[in-house]
Amino acid sequence: MDLKLEHDVALDAMNTFGVAARAARLVRVHDARDVRRLVDDPQLGVAPKLVLGGGSNLLLTRDPAQLVVKVEIGGVRVLRDEAAGCIVEAGAGVRWHDLVCWALQHGLPGLENLALIPGTVGAAPVQNIGAYGVELVDRFESLDAVDLTTGREVTLGAAACRFGYRDSLFKHELAGKSVITRVRVRLPRPWAPQIGYADLARRFAHAPAPDAQQVFDAVCAIRRAKLPDPALLGNAGSFFKNPVVNKTIRNEILQEYPEIVSYPLSDGTFKLAAAWMIDACGWKGRALGRAAVDARHALVLVNLGGASGAEVVALAEAVRAAVRSKFGIELDYEPVVV
Ligand code: EPU
Repeated sequence: MDLKLEHDVALDAMNTFGVAARAARLVRVHDARDVRRLVDDPQLGVAPKLVLGGGSNLLLTRDPAQLVVKVEIGGVRVLRDEAAGCIVEAGAGVRWHDLVCWALQHGLPGLENLALIPGTVGAAPVQNIGAYGVELVDRFESLDAVDLTTGREVTLGAAACRFGYRDSLFKHELAGKSVITRVRVRLPRPWAPQIGYADLARRFAHAPAPDAQQVFDAVCAIRRAKLPDPALLGNAGSFFKNPVVNKTIRNEILQEYPEIVSYPLSDGTFKLAAAWMIDACGWKGRALGRAAVDARHALVLVNLGGASGAEVVALAEAVRAAVRSKFGIELDYEPVVV
């Protein structure tokens, strides 16, 4: 089947911020063959491209000039079932939360801490999604990707993906250069609940051996209570990363602000809770134009209705300036700004 090129497509429903934008040209890919077909196409092959998954980690500040490649590769299956773990493979276009539910329903726990994270399976490695003490890298086996220049298909393991905190090769050298088509996760055996994260530890203080379904239910309940649902209020999850600082800087800040929330990392550095700092600057719940800092969670910027991408950026810059002036700390964006 030939690739179908669509013209002047509204992207409003394809980005969770719900920002209005239009793609001059858009093509949907349903498997790796479609991606190779795109690369081989005499006209489309050379066009600059913007790869779009669930649009949940993206802020559009203009109509993208590039050809938008919408990844709609489906399918979930058990690839191998080994004593040390079960390898499950999913198409990049599968909704991440659907994969979490599928695994749980098939008696394959291990992803429950990552329940309800918006976006697709293919977007998960790009920013190494993480929540409640588990990151994708902890469950990652490998992925397939097609190079957008050569059409060559590669399989990359965790080391090659260079995962970091909300970071990977796909945000750097491979940014915009390849399409992730399939992702494989390794679901651990034996399974043990990961309930060390403060919010979960509190919930299970009197029931320290929950099953995977109970952890899943708790994560869903915590997220629903704390984070705005993008279907109701446009947002891209955390808009800022938690800054990582050395011990000296952390101690200086601690002296002035003893309440600040920080977590020690294994390399001797500290992660500071950006939400706490934004809250301390008085920005929680405040609006600038039609964009606002969420009233429940200060790390999330929301579209109150009809906000442009530029309005969200203006708000983000105001928040950054406030945190810089109060704490001397520079906040980095988590979503990709186009
Ligand atoms: N806090 C405030 N004010 C707020 C919100 C939080 O002071 O408005 C304080 C909390 O009391 C808490 C601390 O900040 O002590 C941290 O808050 P939370 O546990 O909610 O986690 P976070 O560091 O703000 C990170 C991830 C989330 C993930 C949670 C749970 C980043 C950038 N964000 O948030 O990920 O769900 O931990 O693991 O690392 C996302 O990436 O989109 C995302 C939602």
